[in-house]
Amino acid sequence: MTSDELRERYIKFFVERGHVQIPSAPLVLENDPSTLFTSSGMQPLVPYLKGEQEHPAGRRLTNSQPCFRAEDIEEVGDNRHTTFFEMLGNWSLGDYFKKEQLTWFWEFLTKELNLPKEKLYVSVFEGTDQVSRDNETCEIWESLAVSKDHIYFYGAEKNWWSRSGPPENMVPGDIGGPDSEVFYDLGAELGLHENSHWKGKDCHPNCECGRFVEIGNSVFISYKKKEDGSLEELPQKNVDFGGGLERLVAVVNNQPDVFKTDLLWPIVEAICAELSIDTEIEYGKDQTTDQVIRVIADHMRAAVFLVRDGVTPSNKIQGYLLRRLIRRSAVKFTSLGGMLGMLNKMTAPVLNAYDNTDYLQKSEGKVQKVIYDELERFRITLDQGLEEFNKRKHIDGKIAFDLYQTYGFPLELTEELARDRGLKINRREFSKEFEKHKELSRTASAGMFRGGLASTGEAETKYHTVTHLLHQALREVLGNHVIQKGSNITFERLRFDFSHSEKLAKEEIRKVEDLVNEQIEKGLSVSCEEMDKEEALKGGAIGAFGERYGDRVKVYTIGEPPFSREVCGGPHVLNTSEIGRVTIRKEGSAGAGVRRIYAIIDG
Ligand code: ALA
Repeated sequence: MTSDELRERYIKFFVERGHVQIPSAPLVLENDPSTLFTSSGMQPLVPYLKGEQEHPAGRRLTNSQPCFRAEDIEEVGDNRHTTFFEMLGNWSLGDYFKKEQLTWFWEFLTKELNLPKEKLYVSVFEGTDQVSRDNETCEIWESLAVSKDHIYFYGAEKNWWSRSGPPENMVPGDIGGPDSEVFYDLGAELGLHENSHWKGKDCHPNCECGRFVEIGNSVFISYKKKEDGSLEELPQKNVDFGGGLERLVAVVNNQPDVFKTDLLWPIVEAICAELSIDTEIEYGKDQTTDQVIRVIADHMRAAVFLVRDGVTPSNKIQGYLLRRLIRRSAVKFTSLGGMLGMLNKMTAPVLNAYDNTDYLQKSEGKVQKVIYDELERFRITLDQGLEEFNKRKHIDGKIAFDLYQTYGFPLELTEELARDRGLKINRREFSKEFEKHKELSRTASAGMFRGGLASTGEAETKYHTVTHLLHQALREVLGNHVIQKGSNITFERLRFDFSHSEKLAKEEIRKVEDLVNEQIEKGLSVSCEEMDKEEALKGGAIGAFGERYGDRVKVYTIGEPPFSREVCGGPHVLNTSEIGRVTIRKEGSAGAGVRRIYAIIDG
């Protein structure tokens, strides 16, 4: 069965059961500062899962969503992990629940795909202090004739899903719930167990040895994390199902290696064809070589989709990840004897693999140019950089920075090369060097390397709070006719549109800046309360009271007595002292009667 066929059959199956097929979202979501990339099918649906809005297509939805998981970069190399993949999804927004979901998915697997029941295993949530064991799910599986020894219970680490993991990692406002996964047994006889410490011991569905592959996850999204850390039940009970298309195609074809399925295999073949011009490289002969080829195939495919969605290589966060994928592939490709200039040929098999979909139509020219240009940039310095690296006995943070700055080696790439030699790089030393060369890139000030990539979220949170301070300061300096007309936040700046008809004088800009910075220096606490819309209005809160907020709204208050009270979904810092110094960089018109400001945190 091909991927195209499986994708189509899945969608059809759920459409026949009352679902509406919705379009997939791009990998980079506009207006969602909470994540860098779309990494699961539910992401564009969060407001509907929370019950804040009605989805225009109804309460039963389905699609296939291209996803990118940057955090899985290091996992790529085995038989089943990829950074980019398609997630088949179906959702119930407060409509059907566990019984329908599990029955349908089981039917899809065993009747539609004809997977043998003996090879399927399921997992169920065993419960925590706050949420009880999911006996209902277990009973449903039993009623579907899943034998008891194919049902495994696990704790929140494995059987609770939210975008940030188990309940204790969820931040206020996050939603999630217990889940039930289905695994396919690839068979111990495949020898995948041989190098594992599990050899000779009992294996189980979540064992890391590679025998079992997870092929679908039904999440029962029914909880929201509260400010006080406890979980509250959502007003509606949802189903969020996600299943990896590539993995399903693999198991349907009884193929333990996802890289041998039709969406990835042509890329692997093209890589091998190019490499074998001068060498004896063949896939399937040597495990270490296979791992390297898999990384290249995965990364090139992911790069193509990221470029499709407007990402270009840069030192900003998304662009940096794209650069890392391309440059990492380049280093791996040359390590197998490939010529760097030939790597851009691998975009063609990626584009061809999606011929029957509309995913990459119209992107061909752009994809080829962006990847070609990036490889050209890297080609000039790669050999010298590697030479420089190989000369060193010891790689400290300063050398890693030189490799970054002079030769364009992403830090993580240098770390990986160092690791291969048993060396570790001190990230703090690297950051120190980076700070010294701040003028090279404004990203430094946004903290890109300060705490690793994870700190982007932190930077954005600060900008959210600054936006409130700025809104209020503008009202105090210019007058209460000032109302927010638009806002956009990245991890390195904010943009704010507001009603006002004249250009701001230098003096006014300075006053606004001073007022904002005074509040930051005062160390005002930021608190959040949920209340009725009416009550918020009466209390003088400003902000967009549009329909999308529903009847209950969140009001963020900065300072006591309040400097600012504004309706907003968050997230915000806890205290303004966390922010740093704010500077307005630019002011201009954004249409009739609307001004636009760009501001940065630069200290
Ligand atoms: N959102 C769920 C997942 O990503 C289905 O596993």
